Amino acid sequence: MNRGEIIVPQEEMNRQAEFARQVRELPHRPKSYHVVTYGCQMNAHDSEKIAGMLEEMGMAPSPQREDADFVIFNTCCVRENAERRALGNVTWLKEVRKQKPDMVIAVCGCMIQEPGMAEVILRRYRFVDLAFGTANLHKLPEMLYQTLNTGQQTVNVENRDVIAEDLPIRRLRQDAAFLTIMYGCDNFCSYCIVPYVRGRERSRDPDTILREAEGLAASGVREIMLLGQNVNSYGKGLPGDPTFAGLLKRLDGIGIPRIRFMTSHPKDLSDDLIEVMAEGRHILPQFHLPVQSGNNEILKKMNRHYSREQYLDRVSRLRSAIPGIGLSTDIIVSFPGETEAQFEDTMNLVREVRFDSAFTFIYSPRTGTKAASMDGIIPEEVSTERIQRLIALQESLQQQTLARFIGQEEEILVEGLSRRSSTAVSGKGKHAVSVTVDGNEQDIGRILKCRITNLKNNTLTGERI
Ligand code: 5AD
Ligand code: SF4
Repeated sequence: MNRGEIIVPQEEMNRQAEFARQVRELPHRPKSYHVVTYGCQMNAHDSEKIAGMLEEMGMAPSPQREDADFVIFNTCCVRENAERRALGNVTWLKEVRKQKPDMVIAVCGCMIQEPGMAEVILRRYRFVDLAFGTANLHKLPEMLYQTLNTGQQTVNVENRDVIAEDLPIRRLRQDAAFLTIMYGCDNFCSYCIVPYVRGRERSRDPDTILREAEGLAASGVREIMLLGQNVNSYGKGLPGDPTFAGLLKRLDGIGIPRIRFMTSHPKDLSDDLIEVMAEGRHILPQFHLPVQSGNNEILKKMNRHYSREQYLDRVSRLRSAIPGIGLSTDIIVSFPGETEAQFEDTMNLVREVRFDSAFTFIYSPRTGTKAASMDGIIPEEVSTERIQRLIALQESLQQQTLARFIGQEEEILVEGLSRRSSTAVSGKGKHAVSVTVDGNEQDIGRILKCRITNLKNNTLTGERI
């Protein structure tokens, strides 16, 4: 596909803006909305765009879903439980609507884009008014207009790999913002459904990204999180072959105090990127580097294109270039055929690397992926036992890795009041670890300098300086 086919043309965006205006003028349109979000940051950011569009259509946010006139579920399908939870909640709302017959129910996101899901919605979830996939987000005004005017179910899963620029956004936080740099994924890790539901990899134009970042800086944003399924392969197919390292360097020059990014694929983590991070002034010393498994045979079956040794090499390069860097990872246990010895390789890798945090998952077969047809499904009791062992190991190591921060200075961006005390606030330090310090509501959104004094139950506390 050439660039002209990827970027949604301005005329189409104008057409949608016109539908938004028409929805706003409908007397029977919904007046309030509630967005329920499942899954990753990418989805959270899509929800911000959905909220932005709904506000353009004249709706106001409603804190409780049962009070809203328009409820939309932005779904995830990366694991089966995410999907089950979403469908369960959608069904629950059907009951709520009996008391509120004008409520409009919509379901969107990755789950809707799964093969066969459109038919399921049309047949078994007839009460859903509107369903659309990730590629049709920008068409929400048109689809809602249709639904409101015809009273019929509108389902749109047409899957084109497009980029829609300049959608209105209602940000969740004022101090921190997401900034998407690329969409989709071409890696086809054998367990993963993402490439099937989010389409082919496509990068946004670097100048457009820079303009957006400058706008965010001007509006007082203190931290941006660059988003992409595989940010390290940013730039493929763009004129001039821009790289992620190059983009990051340009963004660093804007002066936004904190820049983070996710997710990275170890196979594409270049030395240039490590250098830009080491030399950057605002790029935070943290890295999320999913390893998935510590065993080479399993990594091969996962189609990850790196070995345990290569992964460890990337980690040591990161650590020597950026001392003290905060490292986090994703791990899947019980991939088809995983033996006890292969699982032990993962445990040993965790012991060797000592991550600051690890997101651990039991393998969940996803229809249509390569792994779903592999032999050697691991019994549930074995998987549960393995993941418990892994979590226990990670927690015990974390107690040691976090100890390196005691006595150190950190700058935290305050996210909110502490859950444990009303006279304390907590936020994320530069290394992505959470720190709690004395404070109050006025500190939310501020960057505070503190010295870390204590570590208890894997929670760091500090004093303001
Ligand atoms: N089963 C379990 N975990 C999965 N992930 C992706 N697909 C699956 C699956 N089928 C995990 C990976 C990925 C994270 C976002 O979700 O660890 O990095
Ligand atoms: Fe899924 Fe692999 Fe792409 Fe990540 S890199 S989204 S795990 S296919």
